[in-house]
Amino acid sequence: MQEKRENSKEDPVSTIGLSDSGGSAHVMAKRAREVSDYLVAVSRISAATSGLTDLNAILPIVLNTTLSLMDGVVGGIMLLDNETGMLSYCVHHGLSDKYTTEMRLRPGEGVAGQVAQSGRPILLDDISSNPNAARLDLITTEGIKAFVSIPLRARDNVLGVLNVGSHRARHFTTEDLHLLGTIGDQLGIAIEHARLYERLAKARERYRQVARQVLLSQEEERKRVARELHDETSQSLTGLALTLQVLIQSAEAAGVRESEFKATLERAHSLTVQISSDVSRLIANLRPTLLDTLGLFPAIRRYAETNLGPLGVNVYVEAEEATSPPEEVEVGLFRWAQGAIGNIMQHSEARNVTISCKREDDELVLRIRDDGRGFNVSEITGVEETGRGAGLFSMKERMSLLGGHCTAESRPRHGTVVTARVPIFWSTADAKDTRTGSG
Ligand SMILES: Nc1ncnc2c1ncn2[C@@H]1O[C@H](COP(=O)(O)OP(=O)(O)O)[C@@H](O)[C@H]1O
Ligand SMILES: [Mg+2]
Repeated sequence: MQEKRENSKEDPVSTIGLSDSGGSAHVMAKRAREVSDYLVAVSRISAATSGLTDLNAILPIVLNTTLSLMDGVVGGIMLLDNETGMLSYCVHHGLSDKYTTEMRLRPGEGVAGQVAQSGRPILLDDISSNPNAARLDLITTEGIKAFVSIPLRARDNVLGVLNVGSHRARHFTTEDLHLLGTIGDQLGIAIEHARLYERLAKARERYRQVARQVLLSQEEERKRVARELHDETSQSLTGLALTLQVLIQSAEAAGVRESEFKATLERAHSLTVQISSDVSRLIANLRPTLLDTLGLFPAIRRYAETNLGPLGVNVYVEAEEATSPPEEVEVGLFRWAQGAIGNIMQHSEARNVTISCKREDDELVLRIRDDGRGFNVSEITGVEETGRGAGLFSMKERMSLLGGHCTAESRPRHGTVVTARVPIFWSTADAKDTRTGSG
């Protein structure tokens, strides 16, 4: 392999990087062209491996670039399957389907299998006469002679091999080996990155599904508790208040003089009325019945007015979009607004709040702005142990479950703006329904 050879017409690649390639202008120019081809190829491969995360896109680019540089050769990329432990072709060029489907190797088996096992490249002038080759029948039918197999390594693991072959016996040089080795190392890392990326994307998708399930079942559970509170607890409390009222009247009619007894009855009665109204408020918070009666935007507006009004906060409405999204979207946006309004009540010390709901292109944009004390958004990077951050997190999560997103902009002493954007996929033709006017 180290043997020095004269530059030959049949083997242009072999001159790349050779220091003794002669002094003639012709040879110099040729060499300059080859070095430039080499650089172009390496930069193309770098761009593909760093800019893309999808193996189906990366592998063909790397293979085709490598083969075009190697000048009229055949080849392919074989990857090790994690489950079966077998090495098989993922992409190939110039090889028959029979060859690429039947050439499946265990690590250690055949030339490519040895490369995968040892992590060291193998260069052969003629594989068809090599005793280590596996499936010589396939190799002979394919007419492969010269053969190079390069490991695709990521850290200490070999993930597969890059094979380059030729239909005639030829000599691959140390320059070829260096070039292919560089490509192999780059590709190995790219494959590992692509796989990590894929695992991350899958994990994120699973997490999304769980989060979605949690939010949906939370909503179901809230509905159930609200129904039970309404049908059972509320009715019983009303009954109890009536009974106490009757008792008070009977005591009066019977001329009971014991004033402490009467006072106790009256206290029990007003306590019952109080509990009953607390339960009604609980029901209203658990289940946005406002949505059913008013529709999305008027319900948000009413919620803001009834909660912020008593605190002396002015609520302004900039624009309202008449729209009837599907229930999932409606409930999601309403809960999102409840989160934003809750934060204003709890943290903002605002005097004025403006709520707007507009259509921007194909998105519904709901925005809630306050002129309160604001906060440093970059401080809230996750959910703290105290639970701080959980509100904003679930507001964001709700929006991404609807295919949209949520942003919060704020600075200390400069108020806060939270915005929800949801893609409009529902029909808005019937948006001007009867509910919109009643807000
Ligand atoms: N409208 C707002 N005005 C001022 N500060 C806010 C506002 N909204 C959120 N914040 C700040 O962001 C933090 C995180 O909010 P959130 O995730 O809802 O958690 P929590 O309300 O439980 O603290 C709050 O603790 C508060 O400091
Ligand atoms: Mg909060």
